[in-house]
Amino acid sequence: MPNKSNPKVQQKPIPAKGKRLVSGIKPTGQLTLGNYIGALRQFVKLQDELKDTEFFIFIADLHAITTPQDRQELKKNIRSVAALYLACGLDPEKVNLFIQSEVNEHAVLGYIMESTAYIGEMERMTQYKDKKGKQPEGIRTSLLTYPALMAADILLYDADIVPIGDDQKQHLELTRNLATRFNHLYGDTFVVPEGFFPETGARIMSLSDPTKKMDKSNDNAKSYIMLLDDLGAARNKIKSAITDSDGIIKYDVKKKPGISNLLTIYSSLTDTPIKELESIYKGKSYSLFKTDLAEIVADALRPIQQNYFEYINNPRLDEILSQGAERAQLIASRKIQKVFKKMGLGRIK
Ligand code: TYM
Repeated sequence: MPNKSNPKVQQKPIPAKGKRLVSGIKPTGQLTLGNYIGALRQFVKLQDELKDTEFFIFIADLHAITTPQDRQELKKNIRSVAALYLACGLDPEKVNLFIQSEVNEHAVLGYIMESTAYIGEMERMTQYKDKKGKQPEGIRTSLLTYPALMAADILLYDADIVPIGDDQKQHLELTRNLATRFNHLYGDTFVVPEGFFPETGARIMSLSDPTKKMDKSNDNAKSYIMLLDDLGAARNKIKSAITDSDGIIKYDVKKKPGISNLLTIYSSLTDTPIKELESIYKGKSYSLFKTDLAEIVADALRPIQQNYFEYINNPRLDEILSQGAERAQLIASRKIQKVFKKMGLGRIK
């Protein structure tokens, strides 16, 4: 539960409902460059751009247990994701940062969303179809129902905007459908949220097979760059990324997925349009391009890693998380009361 005992944590008043932004990251393994470009970097940009918007950013630990997790590893990963959020530039003055399981209302609304969704909708989710084959110990029920929990995460805060990568698009669509269905059944209750996808970098691909998403669960460690990778290792992964043999630096996802992915990474990290990169590197070799990109990636990771080590063992991290959870819970509990009332649950008049 959120920190109720720490008198040092000052509680801010709940602002009148302006716009709200919600997003989360699952603490399974370490975060990748894909998570950074598709999600984390967007949160940081948006926090500075959207002045009238309240941010709720969380560590989606309840989502992690849809597959088996080692207790100690999970604990470590939760803290690591929290520190990485801050290391990447999230400002706790602007953002409510918290751990999902510390706000019980997520699970409660998750159940209500399960009671709004149909099994067929869950079975159609591509992530479920992909992951269910990889569960040798049996498929946990929550792997199927997890999109209902994700819908709850978003609807609990009446989010207007949800910044995510491409792979979460289908879950967001489901969330919109569930919100609309619930509103129709019980009267206006939830805001129907909009997804926000980065212009470039919504799907960073594997470095060893650029037709697949960069994913930390891949067995080949050369296929992804982790935010905490040693800088030399990260450079080498870029240099050994799979490309084609025609030697022309041009964006063409179908014919040249490898170099297109590297152009996307370059463009995202430097905010340079891909067209401009194509003209800068016209006639230049892949090897020169990769060497430059390796430095750009190292330059992006270096400050994140420095900041990370400042946060990870710092009690300030706990203060930030407690404050975030407390604030999130205030808003979430009001919403749950409203939902119960609309549905006729409990004794609320
Ligand atoms: P997760 O933890 O798999 O990923 C976190 C975020 O990173 C994005 N992402 C990528 N973006 C670009 N290229 C990639 N290769 C790449 N890999 C991951 C994801 O799209 C995501 O935005 N279910 C979610 C977590 C979640 C959530 C939420 C998100 C739970 N509740 C509510 C938003 C709102 C998940 O598993 O993301």
